[in-house]
Amino acid sequence: MIISSPGDFRAAAARRLPRFLFDYIDGGAYDETTLGRNVADLAQVALRQRVLRNVADIECGTTLWGQRLSMPLALAPVGLTGMFARRGEVQAARAAAAAGIPFTLSTVSVCPIEEVAAASPVPIWFQLYVLKDRGFMRNALERAQAAGIRTLVFTVDMPVPGARYRDRRSGMSGDFASIRRYFQAALHPCWAWDVGLRGRPHDLGNISRYRGQKTGLEDYIGWLGANFDPSISWSDLEWIRSFWQGPMIIKGILDPSDARDAVSFGADGIVVSNHGGRQLDGALSSARALPAIRDAIGDDLSILADSGVRSGLDVARMLALGADAVLIGRAFVYALAARGQAGLADLLALFEKELRVAMALTGARTVQELDRNALADTH
Ligand code: GLV
Repeated sequence: MIISSPGDFRAAAARRLPRFLFDYIDGGAYDETTLGRNVADLAQVALRQRVLRNVADIECGTTLWGQRLSMPLALAPVGLTGMFARRGEVQAARAAAAAGIPFTLSTVSVCPIEEVAAASPVPIWFQLYVLKDRGFMRNALERAQAAGIRTLVFTVDMPVPGARYRDRRSGMSGDFASIRRYFQAALHPCWAWDVGLRGRPHDLGNISRYRGQKTGLEDYIGWLGANFDPSISWSDLEWIRSFWQGPMIIKGILDPSDARDAVSFGADGIVVSNHGGRQLDGALSSARALPAIRDAIGDDLSILADSGVRSGLDVARMLALGADAVLIGRAFVYALAARGQAGLADLLALFEKELRVAMALTGARTVQELDRNALADTH
């Protein structure tokens, strides 16, 4: 299959993956209305074409919390990435490092912190959920710090997990799930051999190490459901703030008042996100929510954004709406599933190329120049 655009990786991933895995990454909550809005609203963003502005030298690198990035992009935390490619988190971290952008390891990764941090030539970022088991949270943070990780992404939009009906239909959860997954794997022998067999162990690496016993894929939904903490509030974050030495980024903000609270709390940054349409179906798209959040907090805080970003052009659109940098989840997992580390390297090269072209054609020589002025007057 010929890959010529970032979007082509999705079809390639659909062919390679057992259905439950493709649907898990591709799907969203309930009717997937917000998932659709994320993509549609971003596509509607019209950029202002400018000409004759000497764009011979484009600099698309940027600096976030003292860290230099080759472009304003990072890989988002995605649970179970190690089911999409053999030791998937390791391959993704290496591709990100080679491209000069950060990789964020999810709490619910297959490969544990130590394995990924040791394999990556540069420090990775680490994502943590709010969990009832504070002992686990503390243990994970200590291990992350011991592994040289400085940047913490704290996900706050999952006090309860959103229902993903597609997962029940596909066999990720629900009746006879494990037997259905087994048959789907048998229908995808390349994946079954490369990832299913050679990519083992398949468990939630970080949690298994803490519990001292294997926490398997079949426990994934159960463990998450039982462990999310609906009682969490800002004050509960104080102890993490006091404990964590490096930058702390709050992920899952969609409302200007929550963004202001993040500023008063002392966050170093936020991620404007609706969790890729996987949580509150009916929520605003990130593209629509972002400008008001930037207005509410001005330049007090770095703002990252995700949800709906599928291309380098989309990165440019998010920057024009007010983001300092962008995270991608699905887009990178499709590429990783389709072609492993090399596929992800190709995707990131395409992203950079598209971003450069968008900068040149909007007359922005630096990432900072790609701001609201790059929006055409349709808003
Ligand atoms: C986990 O964060 C998920 O969205 O499945």
